[in-house]
Amino acid sequence: MDTSLQQVYEEIPIEQAPQWWREPSTHAECSLHQLAPYIGKTKSSIAGDLIDRYSKKDDLVIDPFAGAGTIPLEAVLRGRHTFAADISPYARILTKAKLSPPRTLQTALNRTQRVLAESQTLPRPDLRSIPRWIRQFFHPQTLGEALRFAEVARRPGNEFLMACFLGILHHQRPGFLSYPSSHLVPYLRDKKYPRSDFPEMYNYRALEPRLLSKVQRAYKRFQWAHQTKTKFRQSSVERLQLPEQFDAVITSPPYMNALDYGRDNRLRLWFIDPSFAQSVDNGITTRQRAFINGLMSLAVKLEGGLKRRGYCIFIVGEEIRRSFSAHPAEIVATIARKYAPSLRLRQVFADDIPDIRRTRRDCRGVKTEHFLVFQRN
Ligand SMILES: C[S@@+](CC[C@H](N)C(=O)[O-])C[C@H]1O[C@@H](n2cnc3c(N)ncnc32)[C@H](O)[C@@H]1O
Repeated sequence: MDTSLQQVYEEIPIEQAPQWWREPSTHAECSLHQLAPYIGKTKSSIAGDLIDRYSKKDDLVIDPFAGAGTIPLEAVLRGRHTFAADISPYARILTKAKLSPPRTLQTALNRTQRVLAESQTLPRPDLRSIPRWIRQFFHPQTLGEALRFAEVARRPGNEFLMACFLGILHHQRPGFLSYPSSHLVPYLRDKKYPRSDFPEMYNYRALEPRLLSKVQRAYKRFQWAHQTKTKFRQSSVERLQLPEQFDAVITSPPYMNALDYGRDNRLRLWFIDPSFAQSVDNGITTRQRAFINGLMSLAVKLEGGLKRRGYCIFIVGEEIRRSFSAHPAEIVATIARKYAPSLRLRQVFADDIPDIRRTRRDCRGVKTEHFLVFQRN
């Protein structure tokens, strides 16, 4: 293990994370977790275990870097109140969709039908006004339906439907809307599946049946039992106002340039808001100084609001760009010591991220996560 990190952690030994954290959980997790993909997403089984270990029923658990909403959803499923935030509009859609889904499958299906019907009353969009990089992903008729649907689904209160739509936006499988393309990050696979050899993959794909089956899949392992309070704020961590007091913090800050939340979600972000600029993270993932500033402002807020004996867990990716002089876990531990002096580091887990969970398997990006468990005096 890195000696400099062990020095930063002082006398706290680095423990191996439980073996079962590495086991797949997608077959058993609440199906709302699978609404749509998100790079750098926390594994739901790990999020659930951290919530069990470090909070109790009716606690208020906060996550200022909520991303796909994995930690807030696990919190409400376990009877915790939750306050979530993220700078990204895509994170807003996914987290709100998971925290406030329609109560039953039937309600969700009825609402889908209503929004589809309303979208069909809108005038047909002029596809020539749509940027070429968007057009190249879709059959023109599919794109026309998608544009009209998104116009209605983007209204506040429709986040669940928007999330289902974004979840089927691009992939080559038949249940998706695009020409052959990857799922997590939008790249056309027209070299692997040329139009001349795979003409059926370039046919019109109707939105309605695909969306209805997506909504059904969302309820496969989900029954409404949310009885706790939930809140989401779309905000940078620097501007975020946290609740006055909270019982636990469980969060995974952006991985300092190992991931690019704007570029990798560009197609979904465009459908959420076509006028939205591509950058979603005000430099926090690309510049070490911005990462430090973001975490410093968070540490000061945690010092002010975390209840006594409350836990604060940071999930931090280990590997970063060579141009960064310090390891992100080292930065988090050092900042916490200085700006949140009442937090004590109690435990550190290390967990290798299996290749299967990594976005780009051949990059120098994140390979190991450290879980830093602090407790307030
Ligand atoms: C590692 S991801 C969180 C993953 C999340 N736990 C999940 O399961 O999806 C980090 C998140 O930080 C967000 N982010 C980046 N810069 C931010 C900033 N300045 N303020 C708040 N959130 C930011 C990104 O949009 C991204 O969703």
